[in-house]
Amino acid sequence: MDNLASDLARLTKLKSGVERLTLTDYRNYSSLRIEANGGPIVVFGENGSGKTNILEAVSFLSPGRGLRGAKLADIKRFIPQITPQGGIAFVTPLRWAVAAEIVNNGDAHTLATAVEKSTKEIEDAEGNRSFERRIVMINGNKSSLQSDLGKYISTIWLTPQMDRLFRGGSQPRRAFLDRMVYAFDNDHAKRVADFEHLYRERYRLIKDNKIDNYWLESLEEKMAGLGVAIAAARREQIARLNAFIEREPDDVFPSVQIELQGRIEKELDDHPAVMVEEIYKDILRSQRKILPDGAEKDGVNHTDFKVYHKKKCMPAEMCSTGEQKSLLVSIILAQAKCQTLHKGFAPVVLLDEVAAHLDDTKREALLKKIVDLNFQAWITTTNPELFEVIKSSSQFIEVKHNHATTV
Ligand SMILES: Nc1ncnc2c1ncn2[C@@H]1O[C@H](COP(=O)(O)OP(=O)(O)OP(=O)(O)O)[C@@H](O)[C@H]1O
Ligand SMILES: [Mg+2]
Repeated sequence: MDNLASDLARLTKLKSGVERLTLTDYRNYSSLRIEANGGPIVVFGENGSGKTNILEAVSFLSPGRGLRGAKLADIKRFIPQITPQGGIAFVTPLRWAVAAEIVNNGDAHTLATAVEKSTKEIEDAEGNRSFERRIVMINGNKSSLQSDLGKYISTIWLTPQMDRLFRGGSQPRRAFLDRMVYAFDNDHAKRVADFEHLYRERYRLIKDNKIDNYWLESLEEKMAGLGVAIAAARREQIARLNAFIEREPDDVFPSVQIELQGRIEKELDDHPAVMVEEIYKDILRSQRKILPDGAEKDGVNHTDFKVYHKKKCMPAEMCSTGEQKSLLVSIILAQAKCQTLHKGFAPVVLLDEVAAHLDDTKREALLKKIVDLNFQAWITTTNPELFEVIKSSSQFIEVKHNHATTV
């Protein structure tokens, strides 16, 4: 066993993951309890039975908006009713909650997240406003910082929506990159959210023609400071992943080379951070006039990255569907291992319909790797037969009629 494999084995020897998951008025579940026995959990059932909802609930034990990037208001259980006029109306409970008993390197903790009504309107990272706020409880105490969850559990996921990650617009790629950064830098999520908030505020000022405003200067100054910190953290993350993949190429999944693309990130190649802050301020100042027509293109909210299939020297977006999935698996596995080494405990891996597009060899290899790495994985499928290879080490849960049964 080489050094890295032995470090990973040491860190994952004591289990980390969810032991009991309890959902209340969460999407299609009025109440649901799952006792997880440590190994991979294969959640199977028909389309629409509630498999992805369970994985999404686990993802809510981490900061952010879960693996669907959902609005808080969409998560509480909608109960459809036929109105006297024959239309459909929804009755909704006031709250939803996800609670979990987890272990972190063998130590037990309780985590919970729920929504509560807020008296003031809250704006989320995408500018949606609502009167709901997500609250977080850690070992029975309310925590004001979602990022505190990251000290106890980390999640990483692969979903069917990500099959289009390399081909579509840049926003999902940026979100993916930022999620990878969070695992290494707890403050990154807050910086990104604060930056978005300032960006929108600045946009409104310019739209209202308050260009000479002293306030605008001060917003841009803060944006430049945050923006450079965001760019630096992203650079570091890409460099870390590239170096890891270079040093530890996978034996089954193709090696990737990731290339960060962004004006501010690029400036950091050539200048120290303080100077790049000045450059960023100049960019913002020079773009005040054009902003209302087309948002500025040089900021950190336009950063992108490009992935190459190293062996084939082919950009990921030109690879086949199955190859793209394999490239993603490569990145996820490398990130999961790096995360484990950095945080000192293993992430929970959420694999939604992961079998789609992978051939038998790759599917089986991925499952074996998850078992060997001793990561807790929650895996959904409509066809449990595809998971025979890990039958002896896994737990199979069937979801049907809004209930889950271990079979
Ligand atoms: N807020 C909500 N309230 C009630 N039901 C909901 C809510 N949100 C989603 N649902 C329902 O939950 C059901 C299960 O969805 P989910 O995405 O978990 O299914 P799935 O088992 O993953 O299906 P597939 O195999 O098609 O991926 C769907 O029928 C969906 O309409
Ligand atoms: Mg699903």
